[in-house]
Amino acid sequence: MTQQTISKQLDRLGYIQAPVEKDVDLSQAIVKLKKEKNAVLLAHYYQEPAIQDLADYLGDSLYLAQQAAKVEADIIVFAGVHFMAETAKIINPSKKVLLPDLKAGCSLADSCPPTDFEAFKALHPKAIVVTYINCSAEIKALSDIVCTSSNAKRVIESIPVDQEIIFAPDKNLGRFLIKETGRDMILWDGACIVHEAFSFNKIVALAQEYPEAKFIAHPESESPILEIAHYVGSTSGLLQFVQSDSANSYIVATEAGILHEMQKKCPHKTFIPAPVEDDTCACSECAFMKLNTLEKLYNCLRFEQPEILLAPELIEKAKMPILKMLALK
Ligand code: 13P
Ligand code: SF4
Repeated sequence: MTQQTISKQLDRLGYIQAPVEKDVDLSQAIVKLKKEKNAVLLAHYYQEPAIQDLADYLGDSLYLAQQAAKVEADIIVFAGVHFMAETAKIINPSKKVLLPDLKAGCSLADSCPPTDFEAFKALHPKAIVVTYINCSAEIKALSDIVCTSSNAKRVIESIPVDQEIIFAPDKNLGRFLIKETGRDMILWDGACIVHEAFSFNKIVALAQEYPEAKFIAHPESESPILEIAHYVGSTSGLLQFVQSDSANSYIVATEAGILHEMQKKCPHKTFIPAPVEDDTCACSECAFMKLNTLEKLYNCLRFEQPEILLAPELIEKAKMPILKMLALK
């Protein structure tokens, strides 16, 4: 395939649609290509199980950002969503960073357009801007410090108590942090469509059906859901909890991809995905995360496309708030 054809396809589809040779074992071929091309595969827990199983590094947003900063290989293939691959490029810009499908976006990142956010920030000129990593590079460039759901509390607590804080883009995580830290933050009105899809009433009904099961939730979920949870935490927090806790079954309110690693780590425990409001869709799956497939991952390594490209000035501006977060112990 010529470079021109690849570029045309990328514009249209966001990924390389090249025919895959007959009988090719995609998993084996991906392992081989990774070696040949000196590439490492970083994958988020929300990826499909086959991709998670191939990852050199599998984890939550914080762990993957920490690993991306340390990569020495030539290529980083990011099986996650766009803001994650973009973060990898910002903190390790000399590497070629690939994302199997460029359209793997994020509803939460999309809920915070840079021009609107700049105007919002101007209304609170004295405030420190803390942004959740689920945002675009442009928003990171407007921030003082970035956080993830794993370290958000620590980040907020590192800021002097009398300092005004803007927290963006996730209002649900923001509200949770206000309760946890006692800090009165100014919240941007953004949310994740996956974590807002869970149904409070159906979760309560399910908990009655499984009285032994503990209910655990990601802090991107809405307040009433977090209030009834036995434990609230990031994806890695949830994973650690089910390994150290004594219960045998759990109702899990986050993207269903995490159940794969939970089941691997605790083969004798039962994990039930939390029900969503809409019976007609698999809303507890993130459609953006699931745009990446084994086939797209294979073609992405073959053609070294789609690549994350960012203007050097944007990288410079967006880097400091991420490095500040990574430096925080
Ligand atoms: P964590 O990986 O930080 O738990 O975040 C979950 C998420 O929604 C990523 O998009
Ligand atoms: Fe974004 Fe929500 Fe998908 Fe995470 S689960 S990538 S926050 S849309």
